[in-house]
Formats: sequence, structure tokens, C-alpha cells
Amino acid sequence: MSLPEPSRRDTRLDQYVDAYAERTHGLQVSAVRALFSVANRPEVVSLAGGMPNIADLPREALGAAIARLVQERGVQAMQYGSGQGEAFMREQIVEVMAEEDIRAHADDVVVTCGSQQALDLVTRVFIDPGDVILAEGPSYVGALGTFHAYQAKVVHVAMDDEGIDPRALAAALVSLRAAGERVKFLYTIPNFQNPTGVTQSVERRKAILRVAKEHDLLIIEDNPYGLLTLDGAPMPALRSMESENVIYLGSFSKTFAPGFRIGWALAPHAVREKLVLTQEAATLAPPVFSQFAISTYLNEFDWRGQIVAFRDMYRERRDAMLAGLSEHLPPGSTWTVPNGGFFVWVTLPEGLDSQAMLPRAVAARVAFTPGTAFYADGLGSRNMRLSFCFPTPERILEGTRRLGEVIKAELEMNRTFGIDPGAARHLDLQTGPAPDIS
Ligand SMILES: Cc1ncc(COP(=O)(O)O)c(C=O)c1O
Repeated sequence: MSLPEPSRRDTRLDQYVDAYAERTHGLQVSAVRALFSVANRPEVVSLAGGMPNIADLPREALGAAIARLVQERGVQAMQYGSGQGEAFMREQIVEVMAEEDIRAHADDVVVTCGSQQALDLVTRVFIDPGDVILAEGPSYVGALGTFHAYQAKVVHVAMDDEGIDPRALAAALVSLRAAGERVKFLYTIPNFQNPTGVTQSVERRKAILRVAKEHDLLIIEDNPYGLLTLDGAPMPALRSMESENVIYLGSFSKTFAPGFRIGWALAPHAVREKLVLTQEAATLAPPVFSQFAISTYLNEFDWRGQIVAFRDMYRERRDAMLAGLSEHLPPGSTWTVPNGGFFVWVTLPEGLDSQAMLPRAVAARVAFTPGTAFYADGLGSRNMRLSFCFPTPERILEGTRRLGEVIKAELEMNRTFGIDPGAARHLDLQTGPAPDIS
């Protein structure tokens, strides 16, 4: 008997509109997601997404190792597992963290479904509606989405080319607390920050930790890119300098592959207990098969050598992007010079609005992420994030050439028509829809 084809119902009229929980009211499609559908077309050079380039992983050998895993240990690997994560995985995670000078015990590690879920669990454990989270301005769009979903108020703290300004951090804490706000934690990405590419200097790290200690502030250190340094050795993690006030989040997404969805949180003991209970409520256990697969990779492959290969590949791409920007962007444009990670942060000449420019850029077959996506408060209209991780160096050079043309045309249009920059069409990503650029 064949069942009739289900008809696709038009979901624009939502009968549940009055039934949704209040915390869903601000939820919306992120600019990054909306971009993917267009930017993935082959004719567009996408400098928008943050997908790691995993094409050079030893896929054949990995396939054979995973086949052996299923045959020899499949009964365990495909079973339910521990809510905290498998003990062998947590021990190997401790070894990975030692690369950044972190000394930790496997008991204090909670395995998660990517570090994104670690962010979700930490937020769920600490945030009541209206609580304040401090974050770099700008900050990771996925974290802002999570904080928003739990109805936190995000207050951005100014940063410069050495990371968060510790004086601005202390001043924000004092004035928010004086105003009766409950500041729960600082969320920071110390290495090759997403979206700016900026890395905190060691001095800056110490100063931020001093402020945190003085003001009794918890720090969430999100560090998915730390081992992907392009010049020099990895920096010491904040967690390597201080264990009490820091919850550290790590991930295999950028140093191995994101599809396994394995990340982790390293937390002081009491917090760790709460995270495990919350993890059990959310998923019962993090993906067991992925933990076995990653453990196999760490045991049987030269994962440190693979990170060196990733660094060499990303360095070439970063250099292509910096060369392309120097050659093609008009005077008045500036950009950061990252020494790791995936991203460069561009500031456009005065009067330009990156979001208003985006549809014209896509028509010119180049995509970027507008700066406003990375702020909770509508700032960033003169900025854009460019990622150098995925396209080849040749495509990156071509992308920057196209981008340069679009920016020059935009400047020319402003000169001809005398457009008032304040009047530029502007979508507020916190309250409005994602840009329709398809
Ligand atoms: C700063 C930052 N944190 C967390 C994540 C989430 O990574 P995953 O969930 O794949 O570990 C990303 C992904 O791009 C990121 O850039």
C-alpha cells in the first residue's frame, strides 16, 4: 500500500502564535544562516561562513578505522553512554588541553555536543531572564543567539587590538552593579576572536583575570581556535592561569572535524555537577559514537601533525586575504591582522553600511557577513567579517578583488548622490528579519 504524498502546508499563518513561550519571541534566522543559501552557489566567492576546510583529512584511513570500530567495539560505541561523557574521552581531552598549558582532572570535564552546546548548558545553568552577560563588542553570533534565547541582556565591553580593555570591563561591572543589574559572567574568546581575529596578549589576560578576581566575576573562556595559531606557539589559556573563576570551553570542530559534534566544558567541581544534570535533561548523553570515533582518531592518527598541516593551509589563505585586501580595498578601509583562526574584521570607509551593501556584493558574486550580526545593540554597520578558512587562496584573491570593486562603487554612489550615511537602509538583526539576498 502506498501512502499519499504529504502536501506541504503553508506555514506563514501560524496558529500557535499566542502559545509560544516568551523566550522564543526574539528568535530569528541569523544573518549567517540566511547567507549560506546564496553564498554556497559556486559562482559566489563566500567570505561569509566559518566552515573549516577538512578536505585534506586522511579520509580513507579514517573510514577504515571507523569500520573497525563498528566491527570490534560497535556494541559499546552504539549504546547509550554517560551524561558526563565517556571516561576515556575526558582523559584524552585533558591531554589536548595540556597543549595550552591547562592542568586539569578528567572528573571536571563535561563532554558536549559541540562547544555550542556547552555554551547552551552554561547559559541555562546561570541565566535568569534579565541577567546581564558581558561580552566583547563584537562577539560570536552563535553565543549571542544562545544568550538571547535565555533572555539575557548582553552588554558589550570595548576591545582594542589586544582584546578586551580591562579598565572598560571594571567600569562596566561597577556601573551595572550600582544600577542593580545582576551580572552573571564575562563571555570571552581570547584567541583569534570570532569575528575580529584579535588575540589577547598575555599581559591583557592577566589584567582581565585580576579584574575578575577583584570583582568576583565568572569568566567563560571559549577557545575553539586556540591551537590553530598561524605565527608562533599557542597562547596560554586563561584557565591555565586561574582555575577558580574560569569555565573553559573547547572543541574538536576546528582541529579535527565539526561533523562529530564533540566539544567540552571544563568547570569548577560544583558547576560541573550542574552541567551534567542539565546535559542529562537535554540529551541523556553526548553522542557516544562520535566520542569513540574521535578517541580512535586521537589514538591511531598523528593529530598533532594534522594540526600543523591545518596551520600551514590556513596561513596561506590568511596571507592571500591580507594581500588581496592591501591590493584592492580603497583608502579609508582598515582591517585586523589575525595570527590564527579563521577571520579578518574590516572597517569600511566612513559613510558606508555593510548590510545595505550586501545584496550588491552578492550580485557581484562575493559574500561577507555584515558587522551588525556580531553586536547585540545594532552597532557594527561600518564593519564586516571576512573568513579565509574555506575558499582556496586564488578564490580569496578574486573575492577581495570583487569586494574592492563593490566598495569603490558604493563610495562613488555616495559621492554622486550625496547619500546621508545615517539614512542608509538598515535592518536591525536583533528585531528584524534576516536580509533577503537570494
Ligand atoms: C567562538 C566560537 N565558539 C563556539 C563555536 C561552536 O563550535 P562547535 O559547536 O562546532 O564546537 C564556534 C563555531 O564557529 C565559534 O566560532
